[in-house]
Amino acid sequence: MQNTAAILLTQVRSYDMSMLFQGGLIWETTRHRKEGRDPVVARATDLCKRYGEGDNDVVALDHVTVEFRRNALTAIMGPSGSGKSTLMHCMAGLDTPTSGKAFIEGLEVSSMKQKALTELRRKEIGFIFQSFNPVPTLTAEENILLPLQIAHRPIDRAWFRKVVGVGGLENRLDHRPSQLSGGQQQRVACARAMMERSSVIFANEPTGNLDSRSSHGVLEFLRRCVREYDQTIVMVTHDPRAALFANRVLVLSDGRIVQDLDRPSYDDILAVFAQDDDPQNGPVEVEPRKDADQ
Ligand SMILES: Nc1ncnc2c1ncn2[C@@H]1O[C@H](COP(=O)(O)OP(=O)(O)O)[C@@H](O)[C@H]1O
Ligand SMILES: [Mg+2]
Repeated sequence: MQNTAAILLTQVRSYDMSMLFQGGLIWETTRHRKEGRDPVVARATDLCKRYGEGDNDVVALDHVTVEFRRNALTAIMGPSGSGKSTLMHCMAGLDTPTSGKAFIEGLEVSSMKQKALTELRRKEIGFIFQSFNPVPTLTAEENILLPLQIAHRPIDRAWFRKVVGVGGLENRLDHRPSQLSGGQQQRVACARAMMERSSVIFANEPTGNLDSRSSHGVLEFLRRCVREYDQTIVMVTHDPRAALFANRVLVLSDGRIVQDLDRPSYDDILAVFAQDDDPQNGPVEVEPRKDADQ
């Protein structure tokens, strides 16, 4: 990894370097909760989010109360504009609710000062977005390890090998992003998030840009990380196949949770999509669930 530090400093602007040297309180608090195995990782109480004023006023979240449990893959579904991204952003401290509260590991994200919030996000919240922007000059391995290297955090090589193995990336580690398919790049994004061992990973449409075969690889990766390696993932998705990988499916409509399904069946998910009449979303084709035990 020659000159990696220099590359990181110039190319990764989203990291607040001043935060890298802060430690302490949040780490101790969340470690305590994790070791105590509080089954709830994240929760929202009476969360409301309004955009605009007067006639242009939009209610994006309308009194949402919800808990996200540890070691689960939760899918958040619903039509375009139903508030999925807003809920995720408010939960993850990327947006501030108009009223109500959001908690991660018992810490109130919605009222946190910027410094503490940045620290909490860095340590306890992982993200996977629809489009991953890997650093083009770095290999897959370097991209996966990037956040840890920037933060001067130790790299757990055994964990790295597990994550890379589950993601099927063993033979791609020396490749640069241009040599990887879209699905492989998205698995690199997932592996990067897994390396941080956050309390919870929020994924916004992680398969939104992928064909169904590549999506399957990404979703299987996420599911195995939850099942076999105790990760916790909250995934916004428009994709009924993606929802089939989840332990739980929350359905939003007009900023409210209208369904909360525990390990929904193929028919349950079809029923949800039958109600999604947004013509933008196109026809829905759902393959039957392959593994009966999930
Ligand atoms: N920054 C914003 N300014 C104004 N309205 C917004 C903004 N972000 C989202 N909205 C509105 O809030 C509602 C929910 O949006 P969003 O959470 O992005 O929905 P989803 O992710 O389900 O498509 C929509 O009506 C959207 O237009
Ligand atoms: Mg969205």
